[in-house]
Amino acid sequence: MKINRRGLIAGGLAAIASGTLNGLPLHAASGGRRDGYGAAVTLADLQADVRLRDAVTRYCTQIVPVYELKWPTLRPSAHMFDFEKADALLDFARQNNLTMRGHNLVWYADLPEWTRQISDASSAETALRDHISTVVAHYRGKLTSWDVVNEAIPEFPRKSTERRDSLWLHLLGSNYIRMAFRAVAEVDPDVQLTLNDYDIESVGERFSARRAALRDLVSELLDTGTPLHAVGLQAHLHGELEIDTEGLAKCVAEFRAWGLEVIVTELDVDDQKLAASQAVRDMIVAKRVDDVLSAISSDVPVRSILTWGLSDRYSWINQMFPRGDHLPNRPLPLDADFQPKPFMNVISKFTREAT
Ligand code: XIL
Repeated sequence: MKINRRGLIAGGLAAIASGTLNGLPLHAASGGRRDGYGAAVTLADLQADVRLRDAVTRYCTQIVPVYELKWPTLRPSAHMFDFEKADALLDFARQNNLTMRGHNLVWYADLPEWTRQISDASSAETALRDHISTVVAHYRGKLTSWDVVNEAIPEFPRKSTERRDSLWLHLLGSNYIRMAFRAVAEVDPDVQLTLNDYDIESVGERFSARRAALRDLVSELLDTGTPLHAVGLQAHLHGELEIDTEGLAKCVAEFRAWGLEVIVTELDVDDQKLAASQAVRDMIVAKRVDDVLSAISSDVPVRSILTWGLSDRYSWINQMFPRGDHLPNRPLPLDADFQPKPFMNVISKFTREAT
């Protein structure tokens, strides 16, 4: 379905005037924890801002660390592991009756300096196995799900068999993906093993190519008996691009038919290219989220939806995709003062109140 932008804006404004979005009340926004809904948080922000702590415990039933389980935090050197910050987040989660996901074990980005010394296949394999076995063992039985491999699909795949360049691909070939999943399953047989990727949700050739590459990778992993349980859609959406609801629904249906769960892992909407009006921006942002969640939950409800942050006050979008007019971005369910926006109503529409 094509969305007429002017119609959307006019409809959005009319809806705001009447206080509804897709039939949902806009202002009586959804208090209360939502089952399966959560947000990415950093320990520093949580410690510094009691409003953020309150908002997380008010709306969420799960969290995922933004940095604290990435290599630069966990691995100060080749022979050291530092779990202090991630453990503090796990404590916060447990004290507040929240579950925690793990993000991530293997990624092309955010590798510490010392990994530059890794220059042959055998040391790459040792480093990867050592990291996985130690980290996964430390959190065995404590996390619900791990992003085992993050962003394995190239930015612009030329063919569906192409994988994203990385230290790991360079030294180990695409086998590193299978190897990583197997290594995690050996240490924690119960945690959900997720392949996580971005930019498969919108309309356009690049998005279809990325979807095809993801499909190819998932099918190859399953064909080779790799322990894979879920596909994570990061869903870093682009405000100015419509959602390819048909393409997305088809892709997700196929993953489910193959026995996989589909989860939303890093939802937010980059509003860099949207017009200035706050109300219109909030409507378009909510509409993109609604389109994605509708497309992927028409048959089966999505059991896990995480946004990449909770309040616009703490979002990577402000640094990564600042607006030309210098207005603050509005990518998340709560505004900078922790008030719910239409985005939060959409989250409520697709989740149940937690008991
Ligand atoms: C981002 C963080 O939010 C930023 O603060 C950091 O500088 C880079 O990483 N996909 C992912 C996340 O899987 O780990 C990224 O997080 C956002 C894109």
